[in-house]
Amino acid sequence: MNNKGIGIFDSGLGGLTVAKEIMNLLPNEKIFYLGDTARTPYGTKTKETIIRFSKENTSFLLKKNVKIIVVACNTASALALKELKHEFPIDIIGVIEAGARAAVEATQNNRVGVIGTRGTINSGAYVDAIHKYGPKVRVSGKAAPLLVPLVEEGWLSGPETESILKKYLAEFGPKKIDTLVLGCTHYPLLKPMIKKLMPKVTIIDSAREMAKTVQALLEARDLTARRNNRGKSEFFVTDTPDTFNKVGRMFMKKDMVMARKVTL
Ligand code: DGL
Repeated sequence: MNNKGIGIFDSGLGGLTVAKEIMNLLPNEKIFYLGDTARTPYGTKTKETIIRFSKENTSFLLKKNVKIIVVACNTASALALKELKHEFPIDIIGVIEAGARAAVEATQNNRVGVIGTRGTINSGAYVDAIHKYGPKVRVSGKAAPLLVPLVEEGWLSGPETESILKKYLAEFGPKKIDTLVLGCTHYPLLKPMIKKLMPKVTIIDSAREMAKTVQALLEARDLTARRNNRGKSEFFVTDTPDTFNKVGRMFMKKDMVMARKVTL
């Protein structure tokens, strides 16, 4: 059981930020990563659609005989996690809880900002999760839909990205937040620029927090891998792997393994 893999799914390649953090923190673990590139983006789709896609992704990973499933996509975690937990008899963890808990621990003035896709922000999932740990925290959410395509184009720096980010982040000015949650798979890649624009704000990288949660869960269940399985990690996509493999290198650097196309 311990040497079974960890299943991770995302709407596409953004979840590689989560896979990378898990691989860094748990170098012995074997990863099965599914990027639903044929149906990305999830951030603009309805709850019913996201639930259906997420169930199909989970069923695929279960066939790989994994020991836990990580929903790396914030939108799928926000809209489908409850249904997945209800339907599948395996530990399934979403990315929202970890980021929310870290934000509550970090804030000094009880004012937290969250950026994410429209689906994630409109769902109110971060607000609910943050209030679970810190009922007095004031949460301001802001959908930042233009950031995903910018990251996918590799525009991680430069004046165009900076001016769009500035515009989104300016809305937090009057709210006086001291903590900002990066509530989307792609945003950790913009962390250097966000830090530069908000030097006094604590940035919560939900990908990193997620890796810590996975580690804690595996330890609690005594499921941590006993020997090095890393070489056997596998990546799957639902559309042509060309772009995934190219942009994936930007996310993963030397850890990138070529993805294969699968049908769900
Ligand atoms: N993976 C999505 C998320 O974290 C972002 C990309 C998409 O909209 O599919 O919300």
